[in-house]
Order: sequence, then structure tokens, then C-alpha cells
Amino acid sequence: MNRFYLTILFLSASILYFSSCKNDGEDDKDIVYTQTPYILDIPANFPEPNIPADQLLTVEGVKLGRMLFYDPILSADTTMGCFSCHLQENAFTDPKIKSVGIDGIEGTRNSMPLFNLSFGLNTGFTWDGSKEVLEQQAIEPIENPIELHLMLPELVERLKNHEDYPLLFRQAFNEEPSQDLIAAAITQFMRTLISGKSRYDLFTTAGSGVEPTDLERQGWNLFNLETGTVGEFECVHCHGGTLFTEFTYENNGLTAANSIDEFPDPGRGGVTGVTKDYGRFKVPSLRNVALTAPYMHDGRFETLEEVLDHYSNGVHNSPTLSPDIGSEFTTGKNLSLTMEQKQALIAFLNTLTDTTFINNPEFSNPFE
Ligand code: HEC
Ligand code: HEC
Repeated sequence: MNRFYLTILFLSASILYFSSCKNDGEDDKDIVYTQTPYILDIPANFPEPNIPADQLLTVEGVKLGRMLFYDPILSADTTMGCFSCHLQENAFTDPKIKSVGIDGIEGTRNSMPLFNLSFGLNTGFTWDGSKEVLEQQAIEPIENPIELHLMLPELVERLKNHEDYPLLFRQAFNEEPSQDLIAAAITQFMRTLISGKSRYDLFTTAGSGVEPTDLERQGWNLFNLETGTVGEFECVHCHGGTLFTEFTYENNGLTAANSIDEFPDPGRGGVTGVTKDYGRFKVPSLRNVALTAPYMHDGRFETLEEVLDHYSNGVHNSPTLSPDIGSEFTTGKNLSLTMEQKQALIAFLNTLTDTTFINNPEFSNPFE
């Protein structure tokens, strides 16, 4: 469905809603607010966003979602919020290996960057895809005992008794605070986090006048190299397309295991129960990768050099290792990248950094 159609649908829906409500104007609670559609700034090289027609973005909804994202009222002891583990300067991930929640307990996985969440295949959220829709992951961390550890009914009470939030919820939804609307508002804000203005995007925009350096181009060629032999290079096989992920679940050889029971974290297999999914994790986008260290679902690598050492000579064997990972276990020989190839790949990966995204004032903390 195109954006124009969505806007029309939205406008007619709000007119219908408006005219169906009585407004006897006795106090503020009877005012029916009209929302303004929020127009996403979608880069020309991106696909259409997959936003359901009944969850359209509004200026008021996004504003409320941004406040909730940055408000420590979301945690039991009001010390933390989404922003504590999703930092704008790090493309909305956490520079810690494992994020620590309000009770000082370390989580089991590395935080994930938040951008371009409404594009590409809808294959689920979090490292194992256990959340099918974004709304689920928008509120799960609130109740999670090792994250914000606050029961949702209590949060709803806090918001109802707050001096600003009841009005903000009415302006955005014409309703009082509820669990579903908290999820809807935070989701709306997360959907505005679009990142597509890196140097790489300029190389690929005709007439931008920006060209890659020789080293960057060499890395770009290596990244895209498909030799035709399964398991040789093939970064693009999993991290391809404009979004730099194909949204699949893969095992890139981080863990040695003789059987599927030996994976310390079952990954996708823990969700589906299917043998081939054990040890598989969501392929992360490589956009902004220079800002999102440490790397992998368990944050095991501190630098991109360490990541490349892994792909070069560090792949471990297991029953579900992807055949597209070049290694002695798949093709009979490791990638064995030369120093120059590693430097070129890193130079290319650095071109995926979008500084306009991490400096965009619309995504920053509204309380500062
Ligand atoms: C204590 C740290 C912490 C807090 C607080 C936190 N997150 Fe996260 N977030 C994580 C971790 C860790 C993951 C990966 C979880 C996994 O794979 O099991 C994650 C994953 C996500 C994802 C999935 C992204 C993707 O690409 O699949 C979304 C969306 C998200 N968080 C949103 C939020 C929102 C919204 C809040 C606030 C309500 C929040 N997070 C609070 C640590 C945190
Ligand atoms: C078979 C699919 C596949 C191929 C081929 C592949 N990757 Fe990955 N990549 C993954 C998966 C899956 C992860 C996340 C694994 C995890 O955390 O368990 C990942 C993680 C990464 C990360 C860390 C990103 C982050 O945010 O943590 C980088 C960087 C990376 N890959 C670069 C590359 C490069 C460069 C190549 C080519 C040499 C490549 N990958 C080839 C599947 C693949």
C-alpha cells in the first residue's frame, strides 16, 4: 500500500472517529483530538516500510513514544529506561558486552541497535526472533526482571497519575494510558529511527559527486564478491541488499558443538524447536557497524578486526554451521584473509556509518 493511500485512509478514519464522538466540552477529557500524520523520511534506495494500516504514525504518537523511550518512569526504581541500553551515539545499542538491568543483573545477550525496524522481511525481533511484532519487544523489557523490572499495570497507574502523560495520551490516541497504547507509542517512535545517509549511500546515489577511496572500493568489491563457490567469502550472501541484512537466521561458526545440546545459547532453535535452527541467530544489519561494538549476540568481539579474524581463521564447527561460511569445515579451506584484505573490508564497513542519524535532534533525549 503506498503512502498516499495510507494518509487518505488515516484522514478518513479520523474524520469518522471525530464525527462519531459527542463533544459536550465540559472538561478536557471530552475533547476529541485530531492527530497529524507523521511523514517518514524514507531514503530513495529503501523499500516501502511494512507498517500495518491500523498502526499509522502520527506526530503526537511519535512525540509520546519518544518521551516514554527516554523516561526512567519505565523502571521500578526510576533509574533506567530504554535509553539506558539503546544509546543514540551507538546507533541505539549499548557499548557494554552484556547490558545490566536495574537490579545490577547482567543480561545474557548483547543489546541490539535500533534503526530501519520497519523495512525488509518481517522475520521477528531480538537475536532469536522470539518477538513476532515490534509492539511485543516495545514493552517486554519493562517487565523483564533483568531489565526494567516494573509490572505493566503499575506503569499504567504511574502514567495515569502523572501530571503530563494523561493529556499526551489523549492527544495521541484520545484515550487514557494503557499497556497497548504504551506499546503503540514506543513502536511509533522506533519506526521513525531510519538510517540511510551514510557515505556508502552517497557512492550509490547518482550525481552525489562522492566516490569511494581505492581502499574502500577494494573492500566493497571483496564484500560483494561471489565466486560461485559456496562458502567463499559471500559476506553479501547474508548481509546483502540496501539494508545490509537478508533477515535470515544463520550460524556463522561462533561456537564449537558436537550436537545441538552443546550450544550455550540455542538461539533460533530455542524458539522453533527445529534441529536446524539451533545455534542460529538473526543476521544483523551492518549499517553503522563501526558504532555498534561489541559484536555478535554475546558481544564476544570488541573490534571489527576481531570479527574479521573470526571469519578469516576462527570459524568453529557444529552440526548447523552455515555452508555459506568459508572454512575448513565447509569448503575445506579457511578464508585466510590477508592484512590488506582485512584493512580494505574495514575501510568499506566504516563507510556504512551514518553520522546524521546519531546526531539527529529528533531522536535525542527530549528531557535534556
Ligand atoms: C537492560 C538493557 C535493556 C533495556 C533497558 C532495554 N533493552 Fe532493548 N534490547 C536489549 C537486549 C540485550 C536485546 C537483545 C535481546 C535478545 O536477543 O534476547 C534488546 C533488543 C531490543 C529490540 C530488538 C531489535 C531487533 O532488531 O530485533 C528492540 C526493538 C528493543 N530492544 C527495544 C527496547 C525498548 C523499546 C526498550 C524500553 C522499553 C528496551 N529495548 C529496553 C537490552 C535492553
Ligand atoms: C552465513 C551467513 C553469513 C555470512 C556469509 C557472513 N555473515 Fe556476518 N554475521 C552473520 C550472523 C548470523 C551474525 C550474527 C551472529 C551471532 O551473533 O551469533 C553475523 C555478524 C557479523 C558482524 C557483527 C555485527 C554485529 O552487530 O554484531 C559483522 C561485522 C559481520 N557479520 C561481518 C561479516 C563479513 C565482513 C562477512 C564476509 C567475510 C560476513 N559477515 C559473512 C551471518 C553471516
